[in-house]
Amino acid sequence: MELSRRKFLTAVSMLAAGAVLPGNAFGLGESKKLKVALIGVGIRGVDFWGKRLVDKYSDILEFVGLCDNNPGRLEHALKFMNVSCPTFSDFEKMVNQTKPDLVIVTTRDCNHHEFIIKGLEMGCDVLSEKPLTTDETKCQAIIDAEKKSNKNLIVGFNYRWSPYNTKVKELLRDNAIGKLTSVDFHWYLNTYHGASYFRRWHGIKDQGGSLWVHKATHHFDLLNWWIDSDPEEVFAYGDLELYGKNGPFRGKNCRVCEHKNKCDFYWDITREKFMMDLYANNEKYDGYIRDNCLFRNEIDIYDKMSAQVKYKNNVVVNYSLTTYSPFEGWRVCFNGTDGRIEAWIDIPYQEKMSVDQAEMHAREMDQSGADIVSAEPVVVHNLWEDFKIIKVKMERGGHGGGDKRLHDKVFLHPDKKDEFDRAAGLRDGAMSVLIGIGARKSIETGKPVRIEKLTSLKPEVKRLV
Ligand SMILES: NC(=O)c1ccc[n+]([C@@H]2O[C@H](COP(=O)([O-])OP(=O)(O)OC[C@H]3O[C@@H](n4cnc5c(N)ncnc54)[C@H](O)[C@@H]3O)[C@@H](O)[C@H]2O)c1
Repeated sequence: MELSRRKFLTAVSMLAAGAVLPGNAFGLGESKKLKVALIGVGIRGVDFWGKRLVDKYSDILEFVGLCDNNPGRLEHALKFMNVSCPTFSDFEKMVNQTKPDLVIVTTRDCNHHEFIIKGLEMGCDVLSEKPLTTDETKCQAIIDAEKKSNKNLIVGFNYRWSPYNTKVKELLRDNAIGKLTSVDFHWYLNTYHGASYFRRWHGIKDQGGSLWVHKATHHFDLLNWWIDSDPEEVFAYGDLELYGKNGPFRGKNCRVCEHKNKCDFYWDITREKFMMDLYANNEKYDGYIRDNCLFRNEIDIYDKMSAQVKYKNNVVVNYSLTTYSPFEGWRVCFNGTDGRIEAWIDIPYQEKMSVDQAEMHAREMDQSGADIVSAEPVVVHNLWEDFKIIKVKMERGGHGGGDKRLHDKVFLHPDKKDEFDRAAGLRDGAMSVLIGIGARKSIETGKPVRIEKLTSLKPEVKRLV
C-alpha cells in the first residue's frame, strides 16, 4: 500500500472539512508513518481503533502511545494489539512525549471533550468516537477549541458507511420520491444489546448522556445526513419502566448474583475470555464492573424514548428508540411529494430469520471482518405506480459493513472524492448530539427545545459540512 503520511493527513482534513486542505497546513515531521496515540483502551479502542489498524494499516501508521487510567487494561492492550509503544495514565504527558500526528479518543462519552480539546490545543488532529460529547456546554467548548485550532476533528460515524444506508441516501439525493416532507424512524434494541447498556456506565446519564445521546447520536446523524438539513426543534417523551429500579430483584453483579437462576437477563461473563481479560480481570484497578446488575437503583436513563424533530427545511421526523424489544432491528419510512421509501433491517416478520437474537448481537458487534453478505430490500413506491423493490448487498457484521468502510476511507482511500458526503466532522457530530440533548431537556421541561439555543451553531437548510 503506497500512501505517504502527507497524503494521509490531507485525507484526515478532507474527512473533517469535506475539502482538500493545503498539505502544508500540517506540521509534517521526519517520520514516514503517521504517528497515532490512543486514549481509552476499552473494547472499542483496543479492537476497532487498535488491533484492526495494526493489522490492516501498519505500513502507513504506527502507535506511539496508549493512554488509560486502568493500568491492567493498558497491559492487555499492548498484548492484544501486538504493539510495544509506551503507555501512560496522563494524556498531556503522552502527547508531549510522543508527539502524535493523530489522537484517537475512545474513552467514555462524558470525557471525550477533555481529550478532543487538549488534543487540538496541543497541535494534533483528533478523531473522536461518537458521540462527540454529552451536553451543550461541553459541545460549545469543543466548537470553540476547534475554531481556535488549525487542526482537524473527525467523528467516527460508521453507520453512514453501510451500503444499505448509502443506498437510501442515494435515492433521496436523486429525488426518487420528489420533495421529502416527513420521516418515521424507529429503532428496536433487543434484550441482549438493549440490556447491555443498562449493565454498564451507559446507564448513568452523566456518563453517556443517556441513550438519547450515546445511542441515538447514530440515528440522528443518519437522519441529518439523509434529510440533508440541520434540525431546528425537538420535542420528546421518555421514561424508565423495565430496567433499573423497576426490576423485581437486584444483585451485586451477575457473577455473584443470588438471583441468577431466575433472572432472564443473567449474563455469564466468565464464558467470554476476551471480556474477562479486558474488564473483569482489571476491575481491581478502577472498580468498573462490566457485568453489573441492570436493575441497579442508580440507573437514571430512559428505556423508552420518543421524539418529534422539525428540520430547518421543514421535514418532520417521528423517532423512537426501544431498549427491550424481542428482536433487534429498525425501520425507516420517507414520505415525499412523489411517493414513499420504506427501508428496514432485521424485522423478523418481514423475512424468515433463522438466527437467534443472542447470535445476532454477537454478529452486530463482530469487528473481525468475517462477513456474511445478505441482500436487503428497499421499497420505492411512487404515487400512482406499483412499488419497486431494490435489493442492496451488505455485510451483517461491523455495523452493516460501515466499520470497515469508514477505516478504508480514513486510511486507504483518503483522496477519493465521496459522492455521498459520508465523512463527518465537528458540525455533524454536534448536530447529532444536540438533538438528543434537546430531547433530554424537552422531557425535563415538557417543552420543545430549539437547537439554536443550545450552542453557537445556527441550523441551516442545507447541511454545512
Ligand atoms: N461507533 C460505534 O459503533 C461504537 C461502538 C462501541 C463504542 N463506541 C464508543 O467508543 C467509546 C468507548 O466505548 P467502550 O465500549 O470501549 O467503553 P469502555 O468503558 O469499555 O472503554 C473506555 C476506556 O476508557 C478508559 N477511560 C475512561 N476515562 C478515562 C480517563 N479520564 N482517562 C483515561 N482513560 C479513561 C477506561 O478505563 C476504559 O478502558 C465510547 O465513546 C462509545 O460510545 C462506538
